[in-house]
Parts: sequence; C-alpha cells; structure tokens
Amino acid sequence: MAPRPIALASTVSVDGIRNLSPFSFFNAFGSNPPTVAFAPNRRGRDGTVKHTYLNAVATGEFVIAAVSHAMLHPMNVASAEWPEGVDEFPKSGLTPEPAQLVKPALVAESPFQMECRLQQVVELGSGPGSGLMLIGQVLAFHVREDCFIDGILHPDALDLVGRNGGAFYTRASGAAVFAVPKPASRPIGYDALPASLKASRILTGNDLGQLANSPTLPDLSIPKREPGDPIAPADLDHAIHRALDIGDLAEAWRLVGLRLQA
Ligand SMILES: Cc1cc2nc3c(=O)[nH]c(=O)nc-3n(C[C@H](O)[C@H](O)[C@H](O)COP(=O)(O)O)c2cc1C
Repeated sequence: MAPRPIALASTVSVDGIRNLSPFSFFNAFGSNPPTVAFAPNRRGRDGTVKHTYLNAVATGEFVIAAVSHAMLHPMNVASAEWPEGVDEFPKSGLTPEPAQLVKPALVAESPFQMECRLQQVVELGSGPGSGLMLIGQVLAFHVREDCFIDGILHPDALDLVGRNGGAFYTRASGAAVFAVPKPASRPIGYDALPASLKASRILTGNDLGQLANSPTLPDLSIPKREPGDPIAPADLDHAIHRALDIGDLAEAWRLVGLRLQA
C-alpha cells in the first residue's frame, strides 16, 4: 500500500550507542492515549532482528521523527545496514538533541516528533521477513512552531515525504495536497441519486460521490434556468462536472435539475 508515512526511529542501546533508521510500516492507532506503532521486521535475508528492534525492546523507549523533504537523503543514508555499535546520527548528518522524557535523541531537523514508551511487542511470525510490531504510547510531542499556518498544522509547512514501492517516494505538499470536506453527518448516499445521473457516461465516480455526499436531496422539480445554460443532456453533464471540479455543489445541483428536465 502506498504512500506510507515514514517513522525515523531514534533509539539507544543499553551501552548508550545511538541508532537512527527509517520505517514505513508505521502509523498512529489512537489518540487517547496517543498510540503509534511501527515494525522493524526480521531481515528477509537471514531472519535476524534489526538494531532498532533490539534497542527499543531493551530500553523500552524510542523517538519517532517525521521525515520532511529536506531530510530525505540523510534519512536514506540512515537506512543503510550500518554495523552494530555505529552511531547513525553522524553517518546521516542529522543532529541529535536531548529529549525531555526518554533517553533516545530527538532529531533537530524534524518538524514533528514523538517521545514514546514501548507498550507492546507483537510478533507476526518467526521466519525471515516476518513482522515485529512495536506499539508505543506517546509521552511528548514536539512540533516546530512554523508548521502551524492559521492555527492548523499545515502540510506545506511540514513538507513530509512518504514511501511508495521500492525506490519511489511521495512529497506531501504543494499541488499534491488537496482538501476534501468531511461528509455531512447523514449524507443522502449514492443510492438516492436519480437513476439517469448514475447512467451518465460523462459524470465520473467522484462527481457522483460529491453529489451523494450532500446533506439533503434538493428539490429538483423547478430548475432555475440562467442565460447561457446548456440544453443538451451531455452538455449539462459536462457543466455539472465542471461545477463539481471547483467544489460548487449548489451550482451542480441546479444543473442536475435542468438535466432531469432535459
Ligand atoms: C523509507 C524506508 C522505509 C523503511 N521501512 C522499513 C520498515 O517498515 N520495516 C523494516 O524492517 N525496514 C524498513 N526499512 C529498512 C530499514 O531502515 C533498514 O533495514 C535499516 O538498516 C534498519 O536499521 P537498524 O538495524 O539500525 O535498525 C526502510 C527503509 C527505508 C529507506
């Protein structure tokens, strides 16, 4: 599944050696208490476990740092199979900073970080490549102040990267990011849409999805025709599509009314 968020996991060994490695088998699973999980799995090659896993299990602590585009290549260096005992901060060029509540270091360059206590280890098999999921409770969040725009944590300011398959990555900012309004508390649903609309060869699944998301089915019996409105059903469908493309739901429904009369 792609893209996946990337956890840059900072851990420390019982001997105090720092480790830093990325993991895209990662996500958040609850907000009360705030809970995250990631999976430093057994190596596919020989079934041995990764240093991150050993450190987190031995100390019960880890830091998860989000990866911004500016950290992409240093993160990639940190993903190399550095031998045991190598501090991956100086290798990657990323900067360690003391955390408040746990021993593993924060990553100074990351815009969003979480100090975590290990809650549970879930073993998903035992052979090479098998999953070792670490579930952690977030003890402290660190968010760079300039990542808030108009009071919200803004994707353009965070500028995070995600992992697609293999060597492919995604940059989650700019034109790649768009807003989708939340559904009405009880939307009308696709099955309530007029059959002739659903049969349209011009309206897309996303067009019909936006209409299905409306809170009520408007009264379509007396459509208000405007000068310049198209007449033919196909032209009306194109006009509905264009209205939905710019998020003008009211105009789309007005045109649907005309379409049903056409
Ligand atoms: C973007 C990215 C995502 C990765 N995700 C995972 C993952 O979810 N699980 C995993 O076991 N390895 C993953 N890897 C590979 C580890 O980062 C790599 O095995 C690393 O050397 C482990 O280091 P360690 O032994 O110091 O813990 C990923 C690598 C990259 C570049």
